[in-house]
Amino acid sequence: MSTPTNAQLSSTFYDNTCPNALNTIRTSIRQAVSRERRMAASLIRLHFHDCFVQGCDASILLSEAATSTSERTAAPNAGSARGYEVIDAAKVEVEKICPEVVSCADILAVAARDASFAVGGPSWTVKLGRKDSTTASRDLANSDLPFFGSNVNELIANFARKGLSARDMVALSGAHTIGQAQCFTFSDRINSNGSDIDAGFASTRTRGCRNANLAPLDLVTPNSFDNNYFKNLIQKKGLLESDQTLFSGGPTDSIVSQYSSNPATFKSDFAAAMIKMGDIIDPVTSQNGVHGLLHLLGFDHEISDEAEAEMEEEELLLKTLGWKGKGLIRSAYDADHGTTHLDNTDGTLLNSQSQITSTTAQALREASSKGLKVVIATGKTRPAAISVLKMVDLAGIDGILSEFCPGVFVQVFL
Ligand code: HEM
Repeated sequence: MSTPTNAQLSSTFYDNTCPNALNTIRTSIRQAVSRERRMAASLIRLHFHDCFVQGCDASILLSEAATSTSERTAAPNAGSARGYEVIDAAKVEVEKICPEVVSCADILAVAARDASFAVGGPSWTVKLGRKDSTTASRDLANSDLPFFGSNVNELIANFARKGLSARDMVALSGAHTIGQAQCFTFSDRINSNGSDIDAGFASTRTRGCRNANLAPLDLVTPNSFDNNYFKNLIQKKGLLESDQTLFSGGPTDSIVSQYSSNPATFKSDFAAAMIKMGDIIDPVTSQNGVHGLLHLLGFDHEISDEAEAEMEEEELLLKTLGWKGKGLIRSAYDADHGTTHLDNTDGTLLNSQSQITSTTAQALREASSKGLKVVIATGKTRPAAISVLKMVDLAGIDGILSEFCPGVFVQVFL
């Protein structure tokens, strides 16, 4: 199953409910970065480590006390991920102005953007409306976060599983233009005597590790967000194996060359890839994922004596998953029994409030009045589709769908 992205997010999400949220977060992040410049790097990484595990849902913040399996203690995060207290402090400030409105997952996303801008990196419009998770997964953090010893093909595959392209992966790796790494993450590389590492650079880092445990990921300008990271790779001065592999005679060499000679392209690609990364949602607990899962388990949008008997089983399953929405059978049943509100599991005809918008209704009306044949292709039952279209006078004998015209009922997700 591919990872669905979050089409429901919107940059205006808090405009009415907390208009000062973004300013408040920015002030907090700026203060933290001016106290310690490295914090910008740590915050960008925190958002990345959040999004790659169960989607961007703030699961990374949950401590061992809050959940039985904390991501904080997973190998890529333990003794390494930083900035939790900065996010906590921003949350405290936001709670003062609008209690219980802004999610921590959104604060992480905004903090990453503000951190980038604070150290000379690009800014971008952050989409908002993420929901915080109440569960976390150490196992997923261990399996889904990339490993510093990976080769380029492994990295491409790892990011592809999150819906990100090879170009996104290279642009995002450019975050290593700032921040620090501990010696154990690059000791094999500097001691390898390999042909893919500059010998002078290797011995400088070896000496450095005798005195300190940290080295800058970008040796030239470790505190500024620029394209020196890519220039270093061309000189075989990438710190981690997973850095140098991006320029090693493989499929991403040309992207590295492009970013090294064109900083503006790097910055705009980085911003675009951060937005894409911020859209990652959990394939299992997301709406489409649950929908697909229910079908896989044999449930359908049908009403019959057999289906009614199965409804209880389906609801028990959803309860176990902690899913608040309706199951397939319940949706079909409610639609047939005159409920005017439907759960939107397909995300096409209905908006996020489970209503058909006036624009969509108007477009359907205009198309059919101009003699175009409108086909509703849906996995919902006929009664469910008729019931939705009835609300906007588009069902019935002269409507787009009725008991008399066929419609097309397909299952399109899987
Ligand atoms: C491509 C796969 C990646 C691998 C294997 C990787 C691995 C690592 C490792 C091993 C460190 C050093 C951690 C330590 O020593 O404690 C690090 C640091 C860092 N990573 Fe990555 N990373 C990857 C991609 C990314 C991405 C996509 C971002 C953000 C968009 C990112 C942002 C950072 C930053 C900013 C730091 C420095 C953090 C600090 O100084 O606190 N990395 N990464």
